[in-house]
Amino acid sequence: MSFDTITVEHVPVKNGQVSVITLNRPDRRNAIDLQMIQELGQALDALEISTESRAVILKGAGDKAFAAGADIAELKERDYHAALQRINSALFRRIEEHKLPFVAAIHGYALGGGCEIAMACDIRVASSDAKLGQPEVGLGILPGAGAIQRLPRLVGMGRAKDLIFTGRIINATEAEKMGLVEYVVEREQLLEKAMEVATQIANQGDLAVQLSKQALNAAWGPPRAFDTLDALAQAVCFESTDKHERMQAFLDRRKAKRDAQQENK
Ligand code: COA
Repeated sequence: MSFDTITVEHVPVKNGQVSVITLNRPDRRNAIDLQMIQELGQALDALEISTESRAVILKGAGDKAFAAGADIAELKERDYHAALQRINSALFRRIEEHKLPFVAAIHGYALGGGCEIAMACDIRVASSDAKLGQPEVGLGILPGAGAIQRLPRLVGMGRAKDLIFTGRIINATEAEKMGLVEYVVEREQLLEKAMEVATQIANQGDLAVQLSKQALNAAWGPPRAFDTLDALAQAVCFESTDKHERMQAFLDRRKAKRDAQQENK
């Protein structure tokens, strides 16, 4: 299977293999576009029926980023129909519900959808240069691809509100302290550490790990009612003048006009 926006490799380990998915648009800081969503979906399908893979590592290509979020050029054009299709959030939910455990190996920027796809993984290893955050409200939308639900579970409601309302970007140390990542290592050790975690998982009972994942997910309670609420809220934001102005400003490398919200009323 070959892809344009991701690569998939398989590393043999004692009991099978660890699969490594790399988000591969480094010139766009691995921004997640529709093609990447489709290709990730195909990769997840293949891994779902794999009898060899025991764990999956998700990482980003290039020096700068794990993933700088959803592709803003595409997001800008998405309307309420697209919001209700839950294009990104449905894919991230598939990772959370995938039979295999996922380990995110985060370096550089993990922003917006980049942070959200990492949160959909089961375990997060970050390098000391990682910068995480949910800057979506600065773009006139909400972090609707999972942060509304997963961030408060990981870090607590107060910290989640602080991160989401301010859009501030935190470093790896702060992310570890608040429970957003489980490990922090030096950049050179990132893949090694992620492989160590994935290999330790691969050495356990396959069925027991997979069922533990499902049971732990169930312990969080049924998530789906909230998917609809997130999608509806995002549909409202997707239609706003403010969102169009703020996203266009990012693409034009300028500051957004402050009165865009007023024009929307
Ligand atoms: N969507 C689309 N394109 C993106 C992108 C995104 N989320 N993030 C970066 N890019 C593009 C930039 O537009 C730029 O394109 P250009 O070379 O054609 O101008 C290219 O990737 C490199 O980005 P640049 O900003 O020059 O890199 P940087 O290393 O200086 O900064 C970031 C990196 C991540 C801090 C910065 O790109 C950024 O703020 N990205 C948006 C983050 C965000 O708001 N994410 C939430 C989206 S929901």
